[in-house]
Amino acid sequence: MKIKEIIREAVAEFALGKEFAVEHPADEKMGDYSTNIAMVLAKELGRNPRELAIDLVNKLSDNKNLSKMVEKDNIQVAGPGFINLWIKDEVLISQLNEALKTGDKLGNSDFMKGKKVMVEYSSPNIAKRFSVGHLRSTIIGQAIFNLYKHSGGEVTNDNHLGDWGTQFGMIIAAIEEDANFNWDSADINKLEEIYVDFNKKIEENPELRTKAKDAFLRLEKGDESARNIWQKSVDISMKEFDDIYKKLNVEFEHVYGESAFESLMPGVIAEAKEKNISSVGEEGALIVRFEDENGKEEMPPAMLVKSDGSTTYFTRDLATIKMRLTMPELKCDEYIYEVGGEQRLHLKQVFATARKLWPEETKRVEFVHVAHGLLSLPEGKMSTRKGNTIKLEDLLGWAEKKSFNITSDKAGFEMKDDYWLTNKNQNLWPHDVVNMSETMSIGAVKYNELKRSPIMDYVFVKEEAISMDGNSAPYLQYVYVRTRGVLNKLGENLDKVIAGKKEFENDDERILARWLLLRFVEGEVVESAARNFAPQTVCAYLFETAQKFNGFYERNKVVGVENQSLRLALTALTGEVIKKGLKILGIETVEKM
Ligand code: ARG
Repeated sequence: MKIKEIIREAVAEFALGKEFAVEHPADEKMGDYSTNIAMVLAKELGRNPRELAIDLVNKLSDNKNLSKMVEKDNIQVAGPGFINLWIKDEVLISQLNEALKTGDKLGNSDFMKGKKVMVEYSSPNIAKRFSVGHLRSTIIGQAIFNLYKHSGGEVTNDNHLGDWGTQFGMIIAAIEEDANFNWDSADINKLEEIYVDFNKKIEENPELRTKAKDAFLRLEKGDESARNIWQKSVDISMKEFDDIYKKLNVEFEHVYGESAFESLMPGVIAEAKEKNISSVGEEGALIVRFEDENGKEEMPPAMLVKSDGSTTYFTRDLATIKMRLTMPELKCDEYIYEVGGEQRLHLKQVFATARKLWPEETKRVEFVHVAHGLLSLPEGKMSTRKGNTIKLEDLLGWAEKKSFNITSDKAGFEMKDDYWLTNKNQNLWPHDVVNMSETMSIGAVKYNELKRSPIMDYVFVKEEAISMDGNSAPYLQYVYVRTRGVLNKLGENLDKVIAGKKEFENDDERILARWLLLRFVEGEVVESAARNFAPQTVCAYLFETAQKFNGFYERNKVVGVENQSLRLALTALTGEVIKKGLKILGIETVEKM
């Protein structure tokens, strides 16, 4: 059982059923754990909180389970009535021992036990380049997916491809109009170009708009030429996207593009009419209004069917929910959408309409929009049309070049005319250098996204995006390697040696131990990051871990001292925690550097 749970249980005995908190304060002076129970009860019973706290301390120290872990003198009243507890060293040390044997489950939480979650992310659009927004969604969404995977529940993911809609009418019409169009040389850039060009032409020649509308209607009706062009565009785009996913090590269990919901849409539209959720708007369009009991508009209406009879992005999102609520493998307690903040209103409308349409089925279901902010360049907004945007290839290219220089320099290698020259470090081979620089560069790019709150807009600064020191993945990867280096010097069996240890020798040891054990090993970091959809919490924790370890390592000799085993154990656990934390963020580690 986790230490925190034992404390909760002991406190709950006196809580009269009231809610109370047990927290792990960052500052050791405020206890390894602290509870506000006395303040909660004082209010209830009309008593002085400090006096009540003193009573409770006496009662708590009689608790059998608790007294095994906490010395009587180490339960103390502080401030207005907090009760602070310090865990016995020997308990922390034996937990350290256990932690080193945990393996893959290290730091996992179990707060989602018995629940099923779907995370929907990435969701790029066919026939358009993978944008920076989609890149953000992919990286952040994957981290959230991983966080839930390590939270005790069942988790699945879905890539909601934008492969349907009126814009396909434009692509189809554009290709049909272009007698010189050649599929053999077509790639995603070409498709995007043709789309942008067609948009420009429409301004001069409004007739083309009708052609595009007609093309989309033909597509919806199953017209062969339209279908053919659509399918080819999908294939070309998927090839590009799959390359990106492979590079980023992202895999989807489900890839239901918008087109997958085509056959469900008529049913959803009929249901909306039948249940009086939709009404007829301008020119015969079908809309959904959002009004409170007094008829006051809560948000603008959403379009279910356009006046020309075509469906919308909104309709498809409803059909998606219908399918998710019906298909057993998609049925979940919680649906998390990692989508740009500019779609906040759209998703609010979708979720509200789904609840109106299917009140029973959605009663116990949660819909969450995890929004990411906008990325801009120092010179202003990004725009594909104007050509000022960042491409993933470029980003990874810059990062790789930089990490390659760093690693080959460290290894004493030099590339000259395609040959490797000199090797100062016999430990590393050229392929190690290549692996390392790849792991570092992808890590750097991902970490740069993950270290900030997703919702924040930020200005893209190249040097920062591929930063390899300070609060960055390569720095953490480096500290991990450092911990491995210390251990490799000895490679002794740690378990047995620290088993008999009763006390820490100094504060550095104890502070590092409680930081690793009570924050990470007990599952607190993963739980709070998952609950708050906040991968940045993991980044902040890992960076602080690395700093704490470096401080510990600088001030304390690890190898060849009396306390060697305990210090090695702390070093080993630091490494394991960094490795696991990075893994949850979707970032790999290397064993040497
Ligand atoms: N394909 C959309 C876009 O790029 C994002 C899809 C978001 N997910 C959703 N269920 N609407 O804008």
